[in-house]
This record gives sequence, structure tokens and C-alpha cells, in this order.
Amino acid sequence: MNKYIIQGGHPLSGVVTVSGAKNAAVAILPAALLINGTCRIENVPDISDVRLLLEILDSMGAKIRRLSPNTLELCCTNVRDSEASDALVRRIRASYYFIGAQLGRFGHARVALPGGCNFGARPIDQHIKGFEAIGAAVDLKDGFVCAAAPADGLTGGRVNLDVVSVGATMNIMIGAVLANGTTVIENAAKEPHIVDLANFLSAMGAKISGAGTDVIKIRGVRSLHGGSYSIIPDQIEAGTFMAAAAACGGSVLVKNVIPRHLECITAKLREMSVEVTEFDDAVLVRREGRLTKTNIKTLPYPGFPTDMQPQMTTALCLAEGTSIITEGIWGSRYRYTEELSRMGANIHVDGAIAVVEGVKELNGAPVRAHDLRAGAAMVIAGLAAKGVTEVEQVQNIERGYETLVEKFVALGADMY
Ligand code: EPU
Repeated sequence: MNKYIIQGGHPLSGVVTVSGAKNAAVAILPAALLINGTCRIENVPDISDVRLLLEILDSMGAKIRRLSPNTLELCCTNVRDSEASDALVRRIRASYYFIGAQLGRFGHARVALPGGCNFGARPIDQHIKGFEAIGAAVDLKDGFVCAAAPADGLTGGRVNLDVVSVGATMNIMIGAVLANGTTVIENAAKEPHIVDLANFLSAMGAKISGAGTDVIKIRGVRSLHGGSYSIIPDQIEAGTFMAAAAACGGSVLVKNVIPRHLECITAKLREMSVEVTEFDDAVLVRREGRLTKTNIKTLPYPGFPTDMQPQMTTALCLAEGTSIITEGIWGSRYRYTEELSRMGANIHVDGAIAVVEGVKELNGAPVRAHDLRAGAAMVIAGLAAKGVTEVEQVQNIERGYETLVEKFVALGADMY
């Protein structure tokens, strides 16, 4: 079924275990193309974006064994020097990591340009700037990115990113690990998944330092070897359950998290009168009285993540007072607010700013999941609202959340 039906208005209570990080997995899997040997990857989220990347790797000749729902064995040693299927590549934004991976592995890449998305243009000029800095010639032709290393291979270079870009930082890292010499990325992104990709590559023999700071150094090595790696927990999935507990009330223990990665979400929830208790690898989120207003501005990590903006804005629809949201990464990531308005929310959007006047309750309505995080926000709205909400286009949600319905049902939600 392509939709979720939610009977809202119940508090959530119980325990939920967070899956592996989507935005780490979608970089690590293409990066595995660089490895000579078999790698075992644990805590891989079983989501449709991951299944699609595995299909692309499979079509290129990779050997993939699923040892359990979240553990894979992957061997790309005998992968053919072939292009990834255009039709598959165009279905997933993160396929841009195949540019860095093919360039590093084969010395050239030709990858269909991933299209825009439901929250505006998604340029890749900074990825290209990085590939050029390590010696590649890059061309955009007929909807493809074509990159080629010089005859004597890629060489280390220095790139200062004009904007802090998660994708460019990871893609340049992937392209540079097998280059001759040292590559330096300045003004690098610092998200937890950047560190996770660097740790994965390092476990396979790469020499990377500084990941998690704004200067990353990659000393090229001749080859990468197989090994084992476990992907970090998903910061945004954890935050989504935290925001849901805030919006619906109740008490939810969110397990398998790294509380440090959640600090700015935790801080905002506390400002909203939610009680958050941190443990070593879990957070307990409790909300009894009414939520209170706060202001949020999304920024690159360690700032407040844009991928939590729709979920928190949804919770703030039910807070006492007026909240102001400023979107600092994707200026037009507010399309979902039209759906919330139909559920009774009072939101006014002007460019990158949304002004939310809290209301006492939301009412169920048919709504659409315009994109992944907007979809998560619709589920939260439906769970918190009175009456029945039908969320359509849930394939957008299943791109990035593993067994979301089952996890909410285990917390007492009435949905299917
Ligand atoms: N930008 C450029 N040029 C570039 C690259 C980015 O101008 O070459 C700009 C973008 O337009 C944007 C800003 O830089 O304004 C940041 O973009 P970034 O490159 O960091 O985003 P991304 O790598 O395309 C990843 C996540 C997104 C998440 C952003 C920001 C993946 C596959 N996607 O996208 O995740 O919103 O970082 O944290 O990792 C999601 O999971 O729902 C999602 C959209």
C-alpha cells in the first residue's frame, strides 16, 4: 500500500531502537567500489535507498551477501569497469557518490546527473571543484557528469569549499583516497556521517585525518583492503522519534543513539519544555504539559540539522506561543507546511522563514509525503492530531526510514 492510515491523538510510550545512519550508508556503499577484498558492513539500514544502491553495485558485478537484515558482505574486487545503470542512478540523489568512487577506482566516471528534488535545486559544483583540484577533467554533458583522471593518475590537491557541503566533502574524500599524494579539504562539512565514512575508509586502509573538523587531510594509499565496519546510528531517525514523543506526549526511550550527535535537538526540545534524559547510548524523552515555543535556525553540523526542520516545525505547531523557523540550508524546504495548514496549523512562510503560531490541536486530514523528512513530519502530525490522517506517497518515507510503521506501533501508535 502506498499510504499510511493513522488514528491520532494517543501519547507514545515504550522503547524504540534506531537503525544505522542512512546518509552514512549511502556514501559507504558506493565507496566500497574502491576496496580490493571483501568487507562486512553491519548496522546497514534496510531502506529503499540502500536497496537501490545495492542493485546498482550488483549490476556492476559486485558480490553481495546479506548475512542478516542489517549485515552485508560486499566484494567489489571483480567489478567491471562499467557505468551504473542510468535508470537506477537517476532514482537516487546519493548516486553522485559513484562519481568519486568510479573516478578513484577506474580513473574515469560517467554518471547520470541526479535530478533536483522536492525542496529545490541541488547543485554539485563543489563536488566538481574538488575533483578538479585532484587533477580530474570534469564535463557536464547531456545530463551526465563525465570525469577523467590524467594518464598518470589523480594527484593530491587542496580544495577550499565555497559552501559547507556534506556531499562534496564525502565525494572528494572518496575520490582522493587512492590518489597520489595528499589532498586537503578546507571548509569541510563536519556531520557525524562524514566521520563515519572516514572511519570506514580508514578501517579498510585509507589514511584520513581531521574528519569532524573543517580541515580534512587524505594521504593517498595504493590500495584499500577488506575488513569489518559497523555504521553509526541515524541521528535524524533518532531525532524524528524524539520530535514525535514531544508532539504526541508520553515517554519514549530512544535506544542505539550517540547522544552527542543529538545535542542540539535535545537542547531545542528542552527549550520546548520537554524532559530529555541522556544515557550512554539512549535518550529518554518525556512530555506531559503543553509544549512551549522556541526559535530554530538550521545550520551545518554542529548546528541544528535541516533534516529535522520539518519534524520540529510540526511539533511547534502545537506549542504555546509563536515560534520562528529559519531554514539555513535548503531555502524552500517548506512545501509540507501547506499540508499542515490543512490539518489546522497556523503557519506563515516567507522565503526561508516560517512563523508558527501554536494551536491547541491539529485535525486529521489526507496529506502527502512530498519528500523523506516532510513525510516523517506528516506521520508526526497524524499521530498528534485528532481523527484520521491518510499519508500518501509513503515511498518517499521508506527511502530513509526502516520499518517506521512497526516502530511507531510498538510505541502504541494506531497506524498501518
Ligand atoms: N551546495 C552547493 N554546491 C554543491 C553542493 C551543495 O551550492 O556542490 C549547497 C546546497 O545547495 C545546499 C548546501 O550547499 O544549500 C548544503 O548541501 P549539501 O551538499 O550539504 O547537501 P547534500 O550532500 O546534497 C546531504 C543529505 C541531505 C541533507 C544535506 C544537508 C545525503 C544523501 N543527503 O545532502 O539529506 O539535507 O546533506 O545536511 O547525504 C535527507 O536525508 O532527507 C536529506 C535531504
